[in-house]
Amino acid sequence: MRDISPAILEAYNCPDPLEKARLAQKIYTDLCNQAYSYAAPIDIGLRPGRPDKPELLAPRFVPRRRITKASTGRIALLHAIAHIELNAIDLSLDIAVRYADYRLPFDFVRDWMSVASDEGRHFTLLHHRLNDLGSEYGALPAHDGLWEAAIKTASDLAGRLAIAPLVLEARGLDVTPQLITKMREVEDHASAEILEVIMHDEVGHVGTGKRWFDYVCGYERRDPISSWQSLVRHYFNGALKPPFNVPARTAAKFSSAFYGPLAAEQARKDAANQHP
Ligand SMILES: [Fe+2]
Ligand SMILES: [Fe+2]
Repeated sequence: MRDISPAILEAYNCPDPLEKARLAQKIYTDLCNQAYSYAAPIDIGLRPGRPDKPELLAPRFVPRRRITKASTGRIALLHAIAHIELNAIDLSLDIAVRYADYRLPFDFVRDWMSVASDEGRHFTLLHHRLNDLGSEYGALPAHDGLWEAAIKTASDLAGRLAIAPLVLEARGLDVTPQLITKMREVEDHASAEILEVIMHDEVGHVGTGKRWFDYVCGYERRDPISSWQSLVRHYFNGALKPPFNVPARTAAKFSSAFYGPLAAEQARKDAANQHP
């Protein structure tokens, strides 16, 4: 029985995305085969290993992602999602070991390594699909904003859980079904199938985030709904954008009692700003 933390640190620091994805899946397989039994506290730093490419730009400089018969827009979209998946691998490796001070049960590490393994699979599927379309991960610029939430919440587990799975991944549940429909419309069934795998797994990831958010709130004797809302106000600069995929969010046991009132509050503020 061994400490899992060095293996997680190795995957986190790995600069090669495909190898990072492979390591994330291997660690979880080994974990399921009882290779690890504890996670010793470890200094994981603030920046994961990354390749030289893609070039990271401010979101407004990242190319448009319209899904059409021509492959350019589909490549741009799949490239953007591959980049999100790479960030998601690092986010799950990071959360698995960063918060050792909270004296979390080993099930916490197991759950997030299961997520890391899924994200590794998602990245790998997209990597191969980009190759099939004559491109590759790194060929286009990507967003620089995705790691920001990780840095802001590096010392606040409730904040990390409130934002990474329950704002960012939950947003994926809202937008992915339309992307699948559009891929089918242009007869890119191979890409649609990958997005369906991602959609299915992401419901589980939001559910994992919600379960551990509730756990931390219980441990700290905080009310989950009001805590989530104030953490989102504190850490998340963007708006919660309806329409929400309520069935998928509900399947993840993430009730609209959390996000509905906050979205309505933001909409009221927006309306007041437009009509002073
Ligand atoms: Fe994913
Ligand atoms: Fe995910």
